Amino acid sequence: MDWSSAFLLLFIFFLCSIILNYMRIFKEKATLPPGPMPIPFLGNLFQIDTNDLATTLMKMKDKYGPVFTLYFGPKPGIVICGYKALKEALIDQNDVFGDRGDYPVFLNFIGVHDLAFTNGEGWKNRRRFALLTLRNFGMGKRSIEERILEEAQFLMNEFRKTNGSPVNLTVYLARAVANVISSIVYGNRFDYKDKRLKAITDSIYNNFCITSSMWGNLYNMYPNLMDYLPGPHRKLKTNFQDIYDITDESIKKHEETLDPENPRDYIDCYLIKIKEEMNNLDSDFPAKSLRRTVQNLLFGGTETVSTTLRFGILVLMKYPEIAERMQEEIDRVIGRDRSPATVDRNKMPYTEATIYEIMRFCDVIPISLPHVTSKDTIFKGFFIPKGTYVAPLLTSVHYDPEYYAEPNKFNPNNFLDDKGLFRKNDAHMPFSAGKRICLGESLARMELFLFFTSLLQNFTFKPIVPKEEISIRPTASGLGNVPPKYKCRVLPR
Ligand code: HEM
Ligand SMILES: *[C@@H]1O[C@H](CO)[C@@H](O)[C@H](O)[C@H]1NC(C)=O
Ligand SMILES: *[C@@H]1O[C@H](CO)[C@@H](O)[C@H](O)[C@H]1NC(C)=O
Repeated sequence: MDWSSAFLLLFIFFLCSIILNYMRIFKEKATLPPGPMPIPFLGNLFQIDTNDLATTLMKMKDKYGPVFTLYFGPKPGIVICGYKALKEALIDQNDVFGDRGDYPVFLNFIGVHDLAFTNGEGWKNRRRFALLTLRNFGMGKRSIEERILEEAQFLMNEFRKTNGSPVNLTVYLARAVANVISSIVYGNRFDYKDKRLKAITDSIYNNFCITSSMWGNLYNMYPNLMDYLPGPHRKLKTNFQDIYDITDESIKKHEETLDPENPRDYIDCYLIKIKEEMNNLDSDFPAKSLRRTVQNLLFGGTETVSTTLRFGILVLMKYPEIAERMQEEIDRVIGRDRSPATVDRNKMPYTEATIYEIMRFCDVIPISLPHVTSKDTIFKGFFIPKGTYVAPLLTSVHYDPEYYAEPNKFNPNNFLDDKGLFRKNDAHMPFSAGKRICLGESLARMELFLFFTSLLQNFTFKPIVPKEEISIRPTASGLGNVPPKYKCRVLPR
């Protein structure tokens, strides 16, 4: 065969696969919800701003309605928007919409047998075990409250040392928050100078930035292709590995000193569980699953909370009158002579409402984590087959005009009634909803309250630019909404 006929053959083959692909797409699109027309292999790549996924999806919601189809790569997924539709899916049809969809930026590096990216009985058992263990070590209880307050003191001592010079809060906040979850998982906090703590927070911060950028978004859409292309996404693996190295070392130490009668932390409890199930060949707790679940807890528990703090402080610098009202309430209810406590929350509606508003407005995890349908279903009149990728657009809940009069404005009154008492709003889902709801919700809420109140009790945060110049729109969105970079002065009160 000569060159020209080889080329011709290749061309025909290419043409056929395009035609077949279009036929598949037309067949799929006939029954799925509406959405923009994809092209073979690349899907809707050219309709998606890969640097700002959440905004793209919000614009499409305006065009196509509360449920639409989008090809994230070659395969179709559905995007569910607004409080009503998301409640119908995640809560009312919990059974169908509660499974985890493929999420290559994590799945390809952490793999199966974890807490966050797998499904089935194994996931259910590991999740139940993790929740129980976290509770035993104080999640939602006084013991962890003391740990958080102690960490807040360490953090504030560092702030005192800055003597009012401009500081980058990122590293300070990440280390304090990472230490809270480290205490539960590893059984110890780290000194702020400890290289291991720096490795943990750097790895998590960097991976959060990558997964929230164009690179992470492209990786999720075309993982097989991206594995061969250069770019920051190639760092994902080494960053996860850095945390594995620290975890493995810690597990080894735990094994050497384990007293089965007196488990000290999450790792001890897990080691005991692994031993109990040693003779069970398909145990849901194989030895290799420990480091993976630790990875989930550290990653899930660090960047989310520290980004909310960092973003929240930025917003409070833009609206200093709101920060002052919080400080007035702190002085009135707690005073200056003692540390805050979670029981103060009920007596501090303004502070509580402001923290809820920060979580709504900053919308740190805008598209939740992906879900997948576990069986065929009818949703909003459309037939959705089993195995369809589902993106729950939490942004559209937090900016739902049916539930918030002026969603684009930061306003704690969204969570206050006429008498100034705290008022719930259904359209508040920063932790998502249903059986996949964030496992760390109660820990996160406790941390946010205690860190915000401790910090504002002792300090005022001052911007280094006029407040009118502060931007409070995220600079990138993917897994997370990343706040603008900034420095500020931390001045003792
Ligand atoms: C402000 C703080 C936090 C926010 C906004 C947040 C948000 C979320 C969201 C949106 C999900 C996905 C739920 C879904 O699949 O629909 C999630 C899952 C998860 N979060 Fe959080 N989270 C926070 C703090 C934490 C903390 C402190 C921990 C650790 C204790 C944690 C551990 C996890 C885990 C393990 C999952 C996976 C759950 C599963 O797949 O079953 N998160 N989180
Ligand atoms: C913060 O204020 C509390 C209450 O007045 C006090 O006990 C604590 O020592 C202060 N911490 C720092 C680091 O200033
Ligand atoms: C703050 O520190 C982070 C993490 O090291 C870095 O990425 C960021 O650029 C810094 N921000 C500023 C304003 O310097």
